Amino acid sequence: MSPTVLQIAYLLSAVLFIVGLKMLSSARTATRGNAIAALGMGVAIVTTLIGQGVLGWEYIVGGVILGSAIGAFAALRVQMTSMPEMVALLNGSGGVASALVAGAELLSYASRGESPAGMVATAIVLSTLIGGVTLTGSVIAFLKLAEKMPGQPITYPGQQFVNAIIGLGVVALCVMVATSPLELTPFWVLVGIALLLGVLLVIPIGGADMPVVISLLNSYSGLAACATGFVLDNTGLVIGGSLVGASGLILTKIMCDAMNRSLGNVLFGAFGAAPEGGAAAGAGEQGTVKGYTPEDAAVIFSNASSCIIVPGYGMAVAQAQHAVRELADLLEEKGITCRFAIHPVAGRMPGHMNVLLAEADVPYDKLIEMDEINPEFPQTDVALVLGANDVVNPSARSDESSPIYGMPILDVDRAQHVFVIKRSMNPGFAGVQNPLFFNENTMMVFGDAKGVVLKLVSAVREY
Ligand code: TAP
Repeated sequence: MSPTVLQIAYLLSAVLFIVGLKMLSSARTATRGNAIAALGMGVAIVTTLIGQGVLGWEYIVGGVILGSAIGAFAALRVQMTSMPEMVALLNGSGGVASALVAGAELLSYASRGESPAGMVATAIVLSTLIGGVTLTGSVIAFLKLAEKMPGQPITYPGQQFVNAIIGLGVVALCVMVATSPLELTPFWVLVGIALLLGVLLVIPIGGADMPVVISLLNSYSGLAACATGFVLDNTGLVIGGSLVGASGLILTKIMCDAMNRSLGNVLFGAFGAAPEGGAAAGAGEQGTVKGYTPEDAAVIFSNASSCIIVPGYGMAVAQAQHAVRELADLLEEKGITCRFAIHPVAGRMPGHMNVLLAEADVPYDKLIEMDEINPEFPQTDVALVLGANDVVNPSARSDESSPIYGMPILDVDRAQHVFVIKRSMNPGFAGVQNPLFFNENTMMVFGDAKGVVLKLVSAVREY
């Protein structure tokens, strides 16, 4: 393949990546955007393998079939609620792949006794460091999300000092490897320290902050790929890696803003640690909870003219989206305006609620973002909280001692009546009790979200 054709093919794949990414920013176009970006990746892979003459056709086709089969199998098998874990593993794989390629390139230079140019040596160092941190950081994020290790931050006295010393050591090692790349001992030490650093940086971060960490690690995996692109002088990898790096950082910023926290606070604030001398979830200390039946709720609906449904993680667990759609349609038929309030971090992954509600064909114009819907709650007759907890916890607004203080929430407590559907008084992801459940205007309807909503549909139909 001529160099011009090669560069044009990379340009084409870059354009496909950019168009795909742009389309991913709206639920309406996201599926097509994903397919377009995947096509771009296909073009980049085939171009590289053919262009570099690295492998014969049979290996390319075999690799594509095998890789696609593994990817499709994993994607089909994974539950929607476990998608963040899968993304964590994919980030880790991206990071380690970049580091392995960069490391192999260094070893290849060493075996030839040639020293790489300064920029290439620097790129090898960066790819190794970022790729190593991404690998082990992602594995820890996966273990925390999959509850195979405690979600609470793991902290110890002097932790940040230790991390700072290690950080300084890493800088010194990076300089050593970049300036004397054929000395392999510092390189292997750098590999070990990068892997250790990934663990040390993620263990003090609480489970509730894992989405932000995963998005940041996604960005790191892009930066590692970009660095490897410089090692190999591969334009496609440089552009693709930069796009992943930049979009991951933008998502990280959006999520931090959604929680009203700085990135520094997420990374070093040990958010979610058990408060000293007290349990986080002190049910029963805050007043009496009023339990109601779906039939009681239907009576309130019979006098209502507006309703805002607030879905949360429990809707995903119960797979209640289709039942909720039925309820929303029924309420509209009865003349009750019905919209959905979408909190940016409801559920367990960015866009979780949008994806589920889109699956149930809820019209996009019924999904209203937090900033737009919040002023509407005081004029709303019923707020129906469906398996949401942290994202409607008013202590985030008022209780400075709460670990979620400052996180913007959906102001459901300001509606005339609030129904909360959940199975028990258990707390949500952040592990803190919710004073909303004890409010005068709150009615708890205990049970699985899908079962309760179906009963509510029958009861509302009777009226
Ligand atoms: P949570 O605060 O986690 O609360 C979910 C509630 O759903 C629980 O209190 C649970 O109570 C209830 N529930 C579980 N299964 C249920 C079922 N079958 N039927 C009815 N209720 C059920 O959820 P949220 O309000 O959506 O907030 C999300 C939290 O997750 C935030 O803290 C956020 O930071 C964090 N997080 C978000 C993401 C992203 S990016 N969205 C990723 C990871 C973590 P019961 O057990 O009593 O039923």
